[in-house]
Amino acid sequence: MPGQKLPDGKPIRVALLGCGTVGAEVVRLLTDQAADLTARVGAPVELAGIAVRKPNKHREVPAELLTTDAAGLVASDVDVVVEVIGGIEPARTLLLDALRAGKSVVTANKALLAEHSGALFEAADASGADLYFEAAVAGAIPLLRPLRESLAGDRITRVMGIVNGTTNYILSGMDATGAGYGEALEEASRLGYAEADPTADVDGFDAASKAAILASLAFHTRVTAADVHREGIAAVTAADVAAAKGLGRTVKLLAICERVTSASGEESVSARVHPAMIPRSHPLAGVGGAFNAVFVEADAAGEMMFYGKGAGGAPTASAVLGDLVAVARNRVVAGRGPRESAYAALPVRPMGQTPTRYHISLDVADKPGVLAQVAAVFADHGVSIAAVRQEVRVADASLVVVTHAATDAALRSTVDKIAGLPVVREVVSVMRVEGEES
Ligand code: NDP
Ligand code: HSE
Repeated sequence: MPGQKLPDGKPIRVALLGCGTVGAEVVRLLTDQAADLTARVGAPVELAGIAVRKPNKHREVPAELLTTDAAGLVASDVDVVVEVIGGIEPARTLLLDALRAGKSVVTANKALLAEHSGALFEAADASGADLYFEAAVAGAIPLLRPLRESLAGDRITRVMGIVNGTTNYILSGMDATGAGYGEALEEASRLGYAEADPTADVDGFDAASKAAILASLAFHTRVTAADVHREGIAAVTAADVAAAKGLGRTVKLLAICERVTSASGEESVSARVHPAMIPRSHPLAGVGGAFNAVFVEADAAGEMMFYGKGAGGAPTASAVLGDLVAVARNRVVAGRGPRESAYAALPVRPMGQTPTRYHISLDVADKPGVLAQVAAVFADHGVSIAAVRQEVRVADASLVVVTHAATDAALRSTVDKIAGLPVVREVVSVMRVEGEES
């Protein structure tokens, strides 16, 4: 039980729930590194059982460890439960049961944490068990432990990152080849980067879960996936990417979590996931393929970037094993890792009140007064223009406008009005701009 020192020589018994892409690598690392793990933990780490759905599928692990009775395994004589099943149920019930019984939990399940971290932390607190989840955001990259522990003495103001490898692979492909979204997605699926059903990735659900977890830790506030404004990449066109390139930018799907202070000094939190143009000189612009990177800004520490593999069996298992060693060490000495820190309980600011900068690319008639008409619409809607670029072609002109920070509502009504101007042939691209001074 937590709070009691483990008798010398007694092993830490681990229940593994799930043995798929990540779970199979957890088993491999646990087996291959058994001696080192024993030395690092101060007690042998013993795999007590592995719960799966179809035991016959798993020839790679000792048959006597496999069970389809996940609840029975959790209830058995184990100290730690490692969950790599994914999804909400049965993971939620299994982990609540484990925590209530004082068993420490390690999980990679971002979907579960982004919805139910409050209940899980409460169960952990009631019994004194640990709840660790480094693998849930950005796979192998040590990011949550730095936020929870290393930066616990600082005041984090912003966390902005590329936290979904599938969408980054697709957008990097569109940028490199000029391909459209459909073609780039097909390529990502053919090469195994996108799953058979890529919805959770391309529609931004995966990144929104991760943003909720990041915002909760960074701002000491419970933020759930439902609090995160979410837009995916399915509407990003080759024209958007080309327009970005033309201005020295690239398009990325970003998760952005910010601490916002109003004019009257009230603090709130904003969390959003959407495609955005960033300058090619920004550190996140060079993050290509399926890699992840997260940029953190804190008052005292300044700017930091965390970069590495955000997915895959072995990289994710590395983060799971790191957590397993941490909770096992705590168990050996009857200690405990960090608890939930949600004391700030800041309100979440709705997206409609979160101003962002926009890049708008238009095809317009090349005749006198066009620029003035377009500029007047921006002025009428209170949207301030930061930069304008015009390129004259044979029969028409291309006009690119970059705004200062404006709300969604103001921008939408501006664009609707501009689209109706007789001199505007087409609104080619409208996209947010990040990573530049506003
Ligand atoms: P997989 O789909 O590859 O594996 C899931 C495993 O869970 C399978 O072994 C499956 O059994 C088992 N399982 C499913 N339902 C049950 C059940 N009811 N009872 C017992 N076992 C069950 O998933 P991944 O390994 O890819 O992902 C696992 C978790 O890790 C998810 O939360 C995911 O979000 C997270 N994650 C994954 C990353 C990745 O790169 N894959 C990266 C970061 C996080 P069977 O094999 O018999 O069907
Ligand atoms: N589907 C996720 C991605 C896996 O593409 O990044 C890691 O959470």
